[in-house]
Amino acid sequence: MKLCLFIILLKLVFPCLDNFRWDTMGAFLDKPKMEKYNSHGEGNSLRYGLSSMQGWRVEMEDAHTAVIGLPHGLDLWSFFAVYDGHAGSQVAKYCCEHLLEHITTNSDFQTALQENASVDSVKNGIRTGFLQIDEHMRTISEKKHGVDRSGSTAVGVLISPTHVYFINCGDSRALQSRAGAVHFFTQDHKPNNPLEKERIQNAGGSVMIQRVNGSLAVSRALGDFDYKCVHGKGPTEQLVSPEPEVYAIERCEAEDEFIILACDGIWDVMANEQLCDFVRSRLEVTDDLERVSNEILDTCLYKGSRDNMSVVLVCFSGVPKVSPEAVKREAELDKYLESRVEEIMKKQGDEGVPDLVHVMRTLASESIPNLPPGGELASKRSVIEAVYNKLNPYRSDDTDSASTDDMW
Ligand SMILES: *[C@@H]1O[C@H](CO)[C@@H](O)[C@H](O)[C@H]1NC(C)=O
Ligand SMILES: *[C@@H]1O[C@H](CO)[C@@H](O)[C@H](O)[C@H]1NC(C)=O
Repeated sequence: MKLCLFIILLKLVFPCLDNFRWDTMGAFLDKPKMEKYNSHGEGNSLRYGLSSMQGWRVEMEDAHTAVIGLPHGLDLWSFFAVYDGHAGSQVAKYCCEHLLEHITTNSDFQTALQENASVDSVKNGIRTGFLQIDEHMRTISEKKHGVDRSGSTAVGVLISPTHVYFINCGDSRALQSRAGAVHFFTQDHKPNNPLEKERIQNAGGSVMIQRVNGSLAVSRALGDFDYKCVHGKGPTEQLVSPEPEVYAIERCEAEDEFIILACDGIWDVMANEQLCDFVRSRLEVTDDLERVSNEILDTCLYKGSRDNMSVVLVCFSGVPKVSPEAVKREAELDKYLESRVEEIMKKQGDEGVPDLVHVMRTLASESIPNLPPGGELASKRSVIEAVYNKLNPYRSDDTDSASTDDMW
């Protein structure tokens, strides 16, 4: 199972590589683009689902990689990653297609495998892969006379039969849930972090309005070569560093539940525990990982995220199972919300149909039992909107709002 995806403007789909696609989409938006790109797969006793959505952003430059069973004899290993591009898409696209290969084929990683994959040597091989791809992209960019100013964060997991290697470069985040709670999450690389700030200042730069030189909001990234040309400093001592932080966690078959990889648009509106609880509650209602991923993005959009968003959900065999009680509770909740929306709309009857905002506000002021933890009312917005649209005699038959019906 191999997949690499990349999205920019409108809906053009170009199949290339095995399952590689990219789409495109245009200028300023007056309503969010809620169509999703989805995919899923399974193998090596893992299952994954992924989703990405443009949201309010004019351009979509997020990309993912999901590969179960790696080449070069690593068929029991898997790799998942999310790339969040900025100032253009080239770097995110290139990393989506080539980062894994730069990791698995570099001589440090190869040596690591010959040494029975000791944890430190694998970590070193991953680091080398990042430094190598960055150097390689710089060479390509210089040959083209430096036209490419784009950069991309990368967050990923390399899963071996014994360990999960969490890999982070930038401000996307990976989180692992084990035994019903957040077990681990990666640290974001923001210019204000003391270590990052020290490196930036040592390279002659400054941190203003929480940005590198007052402009870039992330302190580690691939690409961004304008921030990597301080003479006399090595690649990991520049204003922006391509060095990943890598953490290895031993796998625990009995307790490992799932891993979430997501770009900052998600974490801006959901805390680690919130998202972890929300995902666990969804997994008790459905085993469709694309649907769970879509619900994460919709919930974040309704919680106010204005960013483009991508999420990859990877489940271990110890993931919570669908429970008939949870399914029943959810169906009852939906029914309750539908009848409440109907009542609110009827009550206002004489003064005309209340708008959806009024309906949401009224519901938000009530105490509604069994709302999904972490997602709360925002995660039920599509259910509410669907019944609202059905009952609203003045609804415009606009296909965009109808698309929200498909998401549940
Ligand atoms: C790696 O494992 C093999 C088989 O278990 C063993 O024969 C070999 O000596 C080990 N190599 C190293 C470098 O530890
Ligand atoms: C960052 O700021 C420093 C100090 O003002 C300046 O020398 C450097 O050229 C700037 N670099 C970038 C990429 O903006």
